[in-house]
Amino acid sequence: LENGLAQTPQMGWNSWNFFRCKTDEKVIRETADALVTTGLAKLGYVYVTIDDCWSGLERNSEGDMVPDSKAFPSGIKALADYVHSKGLKIGIYSDAGLYTCQLRPGSLKHENDDASLFASWGIDYLKYDNCFNLGIDPKERFSLMRDALNATGRTIFYSLCEWGLDDPALWAGKIGNSWRTTDDIKDTWESMTGIADINDKWAAYAGPGGWNDPDMLEVGNGGMTYQEYRSHFSIWALMKAPLIIGCDVRNMTAETYEILANEEVISVNQDPLGVQGTKVHAYGPDGCYQIWAGPLSRKRTVTVLWNRCSKAATITAEWDTMGLESSTNASVRDLWKHEYVSLSSTKSFSAKVEAHASEMYVLAPAASEAA
Ligand code: GLA
Repeated sequence: LENGLAQTPQMGWNSWNFFRCKTDEKVIRETADALVTTGLAKLGYVYVTIDDCWSGLERNSEGDMVPDSKAFPSGIKALADYVHSKGLKIGIYSDAGLYTCQLRPGSLKHENDDASLFASWGIDYLKYDNCFNLGIDPKERFSLMRDALNATGRTIFYSLCEWGLDDPALWAGKIGNSWRTTDDIKDTWESMTGIADINDKWAAYAGPGGWNDPDMLEVGNGGMTYQEYRSHFSIWALMKAPLIIGCDVRNMTAETYEILANEEVISVNQDPLGVQGTKVHAYGPDGCYQIWAGPLSRKRTVTVLWNRCSKAATITAEWDTMGLESSTNASVRDLWKHEYVSLSSTKSFSAKVEAHASEMYVLAPAASEAA
């Protein structure tokens, strides 16, 4: 969507993966505080989004949505002001149907009123879901809210959550700034790997202004190992996925922080070229030795060696598999060890990768690296 936003994938935090419906204004305020004090905000995580359950069960007598009075007694405007005072942006959630997935009022047939209300509160980001949609064409329903947001005069990031049902990558580029390509992520290895594979199919449709969204990060929520979470974060970054943190940032472990705050990995995600990297090669048992790669600005290439087998293995990436001309003088930077790799060949490189782990590299022609 050409609204000037999403020149690189959006970064931030969302309440759903960890808090579900148990979210309130205290959680949101403390999360905003934590994003600033931990330094995550400075690294680019600026959108703080309240997912489902912020609203009460009914609209008021004027037909307006009303925040749940127990969870958000001070109202959303006050919360937005607080989040803005921290230098952050605030996101909210609604639904292109009669109700949200948790049975709060939806915005179908109320698009203009709800968009104006959100704008009057100072909302910067809308996640727009797909429950109870009466079978109406999603292009129609999601376009109505785009037009309503546009009519407010406030610039609002528009994140479509259609779960990939009607192949939104094919039509959502003119409607939203990102579109979910899959069903909801779960905090498991199986869910995360399956979602990565589905999102991969739509790579050609991503670019500045609109991104494929394989759903929010589970890093830090406890269902995967450190290596699995590192793979999750590396692949999401390479795929130019929105980096939306989904854990409780007020109580992160050092390992969780190390993953989410890896600046070199974040800069792959935020690279100005904006090309979604893909799975370029899979070999070994059930294709579980995988090479994912994609172009970056300044003629560089990002590569992830991903071991989806249950045993450690040496994975080899050939220069031409990664779309590189064979070059004698490329430098290879390890984004997790934060050091350059010394190469013993000019056509390929190999690394030992632990079970379910990933190693991530940026390859640069020697000249551009020196520049
Ligand atoms: C759907 C969405 C989730 C979340 C929930 C909230 O399942 O896909 O991301 O927003 O609704 O109810």
